[in-house]
Formats: sequence, structure tokens, C-alpha cells
Amino acid sequence: MSSVPVQHQRVLSGMRPTGLLHLGHYHGVLKNWVNLQNEYECFFFVADWHALTTHYEDPRIIAESTYDMVIDWLAAGVSPGSAKLFIQSRVPEHAELHLLLSMITPLGWLERVPTYKDQQEQLKEKDLATYGFLGYPLLQSADILVYKAGQVPVGEDQVAHVELTREVARRFNHLYGKEPGFEDKAEAAISKMGKKNAKLYQDLRKRYQQEGDQQALDVAQALLESQQNISLGDRERLFGYLEGTGKIILPEPQALLTPASKMPGLDGQKMSKSYNNTISLREDPDDVTRKLRTMPTDPARVRRTDPGDPQKCPVWQLHKIYSSEDIQAWVQQGCTTASNGCVDCKQPVIDAVIAELKPIRDRAKEYINDPGAVKAIIDEGCEAARDVARDTLDEVRKVMCLSQRQ
Ligand code: TRP
Ligand code: SF4
Repeated sequence: MSSVPVQHQRVLSGMRPTGLLHLGHYHGVLKNWVNLQNEYECFFFVADWHALTTHYEDPRIIAESTYDMVIDWLAAGVSPGSAKLFIQSRVPEHAELHLLLSMITPLGWLERVPTYKDQQEQLKEKDLATYGFLGYPLLQSADILVYKAGQVPVGEDQVAHVELTREVARRFNHLYGKEPGFEDKAEAAISKMGKKNAKLYQDLRKRYQQEGDQQALDVAQALLESQQNISLGDRERLFGYLEGTGKIILPEPQALLTPASKMPGLDGQKMSKSYNNTISLREDPDDVTRKLRTMPTDPARVRRTDPGDPQKCPVWQLHKIYSSEDIQAWVQQGCTTASNGCVDCKQPVIDAVIAELKPIRDRAKEYINDPGAVKAIIDEGCEAARDVARDTLDEVRKVMCLSQRQ
């Protein structure tokens, strides 16, 4: 039950600033963002408050990583012309919405989110029995709902957080979407659409409510989106009226599962900072060469003359990403007959990684040398984000009977 048609949906995602980005991020999250920015209105932000929930004892890494992270996004091809790039803590509306949502969120919902216990187990060296850490997924809900985002690109581990967001939104709409005379107001809003569209809306609504016709719902939602002369409040009423609820103030988002990165780390496990097996986006060619040269291969190839099996070699995983079919055939043949040494075999991968990083490093260098430009991009992103966030908070404060900003 989403209340915004797909093509109009806003995309929102965030990343915690806890270190330099690496090729795993590039092949997973960042390439995905670059694709999305061309199709949707995108908001991407540095989740520094989220980082603080786990790094509160030594927050310096957060400050250090924040700008670097935006530079890495830009270097990877995220474009400030297409996406808004900003920093969570610079948009205080996230915190205000988090607080307001905390009023209506049952404690059990947060205690049951799987990452809560999992992370406490995994990060035993940190004391995560804090109020802030329990609220982590609710802060994430506020991040999403403050922009009324329709789609949230996340990894598998974050899907439960988007689920929680949906439940919180539903509860919010249920509690505050009711208003005296809702039906009359909705009917009045319908007539503002003009005769033809009003009739179309009524027909589609009936088809959805009486026959469960999903397509009718989609068409009606698109119809509402395209209406120029109805107010925001009326639009929310009509979205809700369509689905037989009250006003839909905070629409429910969908998780957009990020395709898993196939990029293995230098030891064949998933590339991850905690495994110390990464190639960073800023890695210089000598370090790339050194890291890949010392990468383990099929343990059966003790001597140069021992044949090997690419299936048992992490370097083969990299050939699958970087090498043409011809080179792959050369690897298979050369490895299983011991006609190639591992050093030779690795060279095409080394060349490909260096070539892939070249434009990224060049772009990063430009931004590193021009901090003013990065600052301007972030300032602009923060302003644009705040404009949207303020509007949402105005509505939220109103329905929660709080005093209005003049
Ligand atoms: N929790 C996310 C992560 O660790 C980061 C994040 C914070 C986020 N707020 C968000 C992602 C909102 C998507 C939407 O990856
Ligand atoms: Fe791995 Fe290539 Fe060496 Fe075979 S020849 S073990 S595929 S690095």
C-alpha cells in the first residue's frame, strides 16, 4: 500500500561516515545511486547522527570521514546536478521528527528489530545499551519520512528498518489522519478536480474498494499526482479516501534492495573494512599493484609447475568482474595446465582495477583541491533538503497540535 505512484517517488538513502569508501561500496551502493539519480529525485545524505550511536566515544572519525565521503560519492559519479547531497545533522528536522515519532512508537517495536540485538552481540567491545542506539531505526524512519520518500535503496540488513518505518507511518496516519468532517472534506476536494476527473476518481475508487482492483488504485494515484489545482492537504485526503483510511500524511516507503556487490575482498571474503581486505577508491596504483600481487591464490599451486583450479582462487572472482571472455579463457587454460604463473595471471586484473580507479581518483583529486566547491555542494544540498523537511514538519506539528511557526 504505497500512496505515491512510482514515477514520482523520491529516493532517499544514507551512509554512515565511519571510514574511507572502497571498491565494495562502489560496485554495490554507489553504482546503484548513480543509476537512480537519472531516474528519480534523489536525496543522499551522510548519516552522522547514526554513526554517533556506535562511535560516541571517539567521534573524530565521523568528522574526518564526512567530507571525504561526499568527495568519494562525487568521485564515483554521483552528480550534485541530479541528486541532493547533504549532512543529516545539518537538517535538524530529522531530530524533531524522530522525537515526535518516539511519542507514538511502542518500545517493543524497537526491541524486536533484529539489528538491535545482533549489533550489540557483534560489537561487544562497545556499550550499546543506550537510549540512542535503541532509537537507531526510528531515527532512520524519521530520515525517510521527513522527505516522504517512496523508495529507499538499502542492503538486506536494513530492510527491517524500512519495515519499521512503514509501521510507524501507518500508526501516525491512523492517529493523526483523522479529522472532523473528513468525508465531507474529501468529497469537496473531489469536486475541485473538475467534472471529468472527479468522475474518473470516483469510478476508480469504487473499483479499488469494491473489487480490490490494484490497477485502478495505481491509475487513481497517478491522477491525483497530476492534479495542479488541489492543495497538499486535499491531495493527502484524497489519497487516504481512495484507500479507505484517513489522510495520508506520511506515505509508506518501499525498500529498494541494492543488488549485492560481487566484489570480493583481497582474501576472497566480502570486501569490508572490518576484514581489512579492501582497496579504497583513493588507492594509488602502486598500492593496488602491491595488494593484488600479494593476494592469496589456489593453495594447490605451491610451485609454479603445479596446476590449479580457478574455482578455488579468489583472483578468479576478480577476473569474472573485470576480464573479457578471451582473458577468462586464457586464465582457465593457463591455470589448469600450469602454463601461466599467478603473477602473470593477476596482471590483467591489476591493470583493470587501476584503470577503473583512474577517473575516480582524478575526480577526487579535483574536489580535494577545491574544498570550497565541496562545501558549496553540501550547503546547497542541505538547504534543498531543509526546504522539504520544513514543510513536512509544519504539517506534522499541526496535526500533533503543536504551536506553529509564524
Ligand atoms: N542505517 C543505514 C546503514 O547503516 C544508514 C541510514 C541511515 C539510512 N538513515 C537512512 C539508509 C535512511 C537509508 C535511509 O546503512
Ligand atoms: Fe588463481 Fe590465476 Fe593463479 Fe590460477 S593462475 S591460482 S586463477 S591467480
